[in-house]
Amino acid sequence: MSGTASSQGQGPVLVVDYGAQYAQLIARRVREAQVYSEVVPHDTSVADIARRDPAAIVLSGGPSSVYADGAPQVDPELFNAGIPVFGICYGFQAMTSALGGTVEHTGIREYGRTELDITGDGGTLHAELPGHHPVWMSHGDSVSKAPEGFAVTAGTKDTPVAAFESVERRLAGVQYHPEVVHSPHGQEVLRRFLHEIAGVRPQWTTASIVDDTVAAIREQIGDRRAICALSGGVDSAVAAALVHRAIGDQLTCVFVDHGLLRSGERAQVERDFVAATGVRLVTIDAVGRFLDALSGVTDPEEKRKIIGREFIRVFEQAARDLQAEAGAAGEQIDFLVQGTLYPDVVESGGGTGAANIKSHHNVGGLPDDLQFELVEPLRALFKDEVRRVGLELGLPETIVHRQPFPGPGLGIRIIGEVTAERLATLRAADSIAREELTAAGLDRDIWQCPVVLLADVRSVGVQGDGRTYGHPVVLRPVSSEDAMTADWTRLPYDVLERISTRITNEVSDVNRVTLDVTSKPPGTIEWE
Ligand code: XMP
Repeated sequence: MSGTASSQGQGPVLVVDYGAQYAQLIARRVREAQVYSEVVPHDTSVADIARRDPAAIVLSGGPSSVYADGAPQVDPELFNAGIPVFGICYGFQAMTSALGGTVEHTGIREYGRTELDITGDGGTLHAELPGHHPVWMSHGDSVSKAPEGFAVTAGTKDTPVAAFESVERRLAGVQYHPEVVHSPHGQEVLRRFLHEIAGVRPQWTTASIVDDTVAAIREQIGDRRAICALSGGVDSAVAAALVHRAIGDQLTCVFVDHGLLRSGERAQVERDFVAATGVRLVTIDAVGRFLDALSGVTDPEEKRKIIGREFIRVFEQAARDLQAEAGAAGEQIDFLVQGTLYPDVVESGGGTGAANIKSHHNVGGLPDDLQFELVEPLRALFKDEVRRVGLELGLPETIVHRQPFPGPGLGIRIIGEVTAERLATLRAADSIAREELTAAGLDRDIWQCPVVLLADVRSVGVQGDGRTYGHPVVLRPVSSEDAMTADWTRLPYDVLERISTRITNEVSDVNRVTLDVTSKPPGTIEWE
């Protein structure tokens, strides 16, 4: 299923990706203006673009100079197709060249925060905005002459043409990046292009996403049956809740308890998720099996491999058992639900075609006798949309706003061998850190805060009357946008103090709490 914007009654807005890191962000911003959008590669032909019947096109920024050899150009035909187009940064310059304006190497680079001066009444894009306001720039070349018939509506000290528009032709562009938060009026400018110049109707709302997706799932599955592996995380929970809304008890969820979860997470799935959705859930208690398989293993990659392998084996067996049960009732389970998100789809280079199965320990590589068709109800959605859909479906906040947690769980947060005792120690320390961060209202400020048990390191302490020989834990609070890069979060000292005091008082075996102050890169977020 592709999860497109059927109820919009209009095609998607296509964001043409010129190789900047901003294309996905632009697509998200377009959706924040309540218009469905997708990213397409810059070499998509005008014919292919027109076939999608897009409501509008946004040409993204990119790293090239329009004059550089091999720089991706815009086919001038695009502007004759009657489709509204908005050019951003490189897209603005490429648009200028294609329409007969002039782009010059001025030798002046604008990078970062720049003052934008509105010309005249600001036209449609910049009407009623402050006459001077900051925008985010990142360019070397500049547009020195707008194409014939375009009104120039803004400039900067070094760039006379920083915005132009032709409302009649429904074409417009800006030199700056309206999609980033450093351009405080950027979202308003994008919204005006979409709603006022392009005439696109704002119809992409959480309620419409739920309705369209539920209808598409019903269409795909009909009266057949599906299973879904729940991990305790946001994606699988929302995917399962959507499928349950569509097909009710034709869906069975499987939750494998591998014993590597944090305190309270099994209850969140078994009690809270089931109470919120009414889903049929089978829990497989595989704690002993995972511990046996991990016995004596200290290498992180080997731990990951073992956890992934065992997970698939346990899930496979559960699927076979359910299959046998369904078969006895004259039915068959044909579908496997997966929580694949839109960024995974874009990054693996395709909107349609081969199923994109996430690596890590998610279900993948099932054996031949377990052939399922995939149901991927989140395939068109960004993470923030998934969270909103989760809330709309009534899922608990604890699940919807859960911070990222790795598939191999606490298994890769114990440096050394994983044992039941060490897991209990880490779970207790982690639970204190989470409680205190939540109490301090910091959950939304941090991306995630792994607590790591240095089980192979011993530290000396004095606790009560005696000398102890225990272990350190590491707090690893990080701030991030996407986990690709991260910075260590400057937590208030009093919060750190409470966490440290409580952990060393309440968790026997831990006599030292340390703070990781490394950014990523060079460090990774997890320690293993
Ligand atoms: P690193 O440690 O690579 O982590 O900076 C980036 C993000 O990925 C998570 N992570 C994992 N998630 N399986 C997962 O599902 C894994 O093996 C794994 N390793 C790291 C990590 O928590 C962070 O959000």
